[in-house]
Amino acid sequence: MIFDTHAHYDDEQFDADREALLSQMKENGIERIADIGASMASSKEALLLSEKYDFIYAVVGVHPSEVEELNDDKLEELRIMSRKPKCVAIGEIGLDYHWPEPSRELQQHWFSRQLSLAREEHKPVVIHSREAAEDTLRIMKEQKAEEIGGVVHCFSYSKEIARICADMGFYIGVGGVITFKNGKKLKETVADLPLDKILLETDCPYLAPEPYRGKRNSSLFLPYVVEAIADIKGISKEEVMDVTYNNALRFYGL
Ligand code: NI
Repeated sequence: MIFDTHAHYDDEQFDADREALLSQMKENGIERIADIGASMASSKEALLLSEKYDFIYAVVGVHPSEVEELNDDKLEELRIMSRKPKCVAIGEIGLDYHWPEPSRELQQHWFSRQLSLAREEHKPVVIHSREAAEDTLRIMKEQKAEEIGGVVHCFSYSKEIARICADMGFYIGVGGVITFKNGKKLKETVADLPLDKILLETDCPYLAPEPYRGKRNSSLFLPYVVEAIADIKGISKEEVMDVTYNNALRFYGL
């Protein structure tokens, strides 16, 4: 059984065949899925999906690239959304310095405030962090993130930084990049990290694993990620699936 801990089935790339695709999940071993909001609108869509499908859970939050839409009222709206029974975490939230906008100050402000929201609502967080390791760790420490708990999804930093996150009680999200030829850094991280710190994720429709790199991703491709992790760690695919499935249940409090 596989738990896809990070998917975006609310994305328009699934509009044409969303129902047909989701109806194939269980028979292919994809037992549960967390649909992750990235804006106010997609957070609402994630909740709708979680109400429609018993095996889908919702995560609500505003991605660093979308924080210009946030204000005090919207944050309160997020709080109310986070109290829905199938909302299991706050995210994806964080810092993304790859693009010049929104400003770093604005991203940091809303990252901190959404971390506070998670603490107040007793939910873990799903963190997106790109080219911003230092500030991400600083804000996590300031906000005592070790008391909140969470995952650093689509982990792209060094194994040393993964260890710091793991020591704060965080999980590391691993997806299609682990199968890429240029995924050496992530392979080193996975080799170094105990399996009980790893969560499986797709980030679909993005980041399809080899041999589908560049195509639309879905949870159905996760067996390629499982195989890559099993090879790196020299263990069976069953063990990778069992341990990461239980990690995901523990992480999302299910
Ligand atoms: Ni994502």
